[in-house]
Amino acid sequence: MPHPPTTAAGSVLFSLEGRRALITGSGQGIGLTLARGFAIAGASLVLNDRDPARLAQAVVQLQGEGFSAVGRCFDVARADAVEAGLAGLETEVGPVDILVNNAGIHARAPLESMSREAWQSVLEVNLTSAFLVSRAIAPGMIRRGAGKIINLCSLNSEISRPTIANYAAAKGGLKMLTRAMAVEWGPHNLQTNGLGPGYIRTAMTGALTVDPAFDRTIRARTPAGRWGESGELVGAAVFLASRASDFVNGQIVSVDGGLLAAL
Ligand SMILES: NC(=O)c1ccc[n+]([C@@H]2O[C@H](COP(=O)([O-])OP(=O)(O)OC[C@H]3O[C@@H](n4cnc5c(N)ncnc54)[C@H](O)[C@@H]3O)[C@@H](O)[C@H]2O)c1
Repeated sequence: MPHPPTTAAGSVLFSLEGRRALITGSGQGIGLTLARGFAIAGASLVLNDRDPARLAQAVVQLQGEGFSAVGRCFDVARADAVEAGLAGLETEVGPVDILVNNAGIHARAPLESMSREAWQSVLEVNLTSAFLVSRAIAPGMIRRGAGKIINLCSLNSEISRPTIANYAAAKGGLKMLTRAMAVEWGPHNLQTNGLGPGYIRTAMTGALTVDPAFDRTIRARTPAGRWGESGELVGAAVFLASRASDFVNGQIVSVDGGLLAAL
């Protein structure tokens, strides 16, 4: 596809018309919000979650809003489940042009007493899953000579805090996996970038938002002086999914109210 002239209208540069996006862990939270944002920009959707009821509800909700959406229920951290969950997707639904590796979990514990299970599960869901799902989807993108992969990184790809060593290790690893994908698949015209949210109000951070001391710390530490909302990630995500980012590869775009810039 020829590159858009630099004078192309924004609507052309950022349009996802005719594209299909697979978003993992999109039954709720950031994944669901990004899915809706992509649909508004013109994409058809393949939602995924390991929770079948949550996934079904999200699919029905988006279809009810007039968007094209199907669901594939599987655990992104299990290689056999990923293979089975994505089998036949291309022939039955169509090719995936945009992949968002969004599924993620926390299992907070002091490092010296962290169980191997807490370590392993967080590494598997936040890091290994991006390898497994991308490995399944990238060959089609390579065949077609185009594709966009967005990995949900974090502030914790760069900095840590007590009780999240497993998560910081996973998100730090995901940053480097993003660069590895960019290097290896860039020659095939795939662009792989990371989206790095700051502190966003979702179920994942629910307990933190109602902890007065933590809430005070986040407001004081973030130049914007507040928590972010999922919808504030949509603009950067659509950019990374669209032709507007065709020469952007291996970058982590932080959407964090300025937190990473501040001491
Ligand atoms: N909320 C934040 O402040 C924040 C900040 C930085 C990064 N992130 C990242 O953004 C992503 C989304 O976070 P969120 O806040 O929306 O979380 P969330 O807990 O609200 O939603 C995560 C979704 O992923 C699904 N999921 C979990 N494990 C899965 C698995 N193994 N297979 C398939 N689906 C699975 C869950 O069922 C859930 O629907 C995560 O990768 C998270 O680490 C979030």
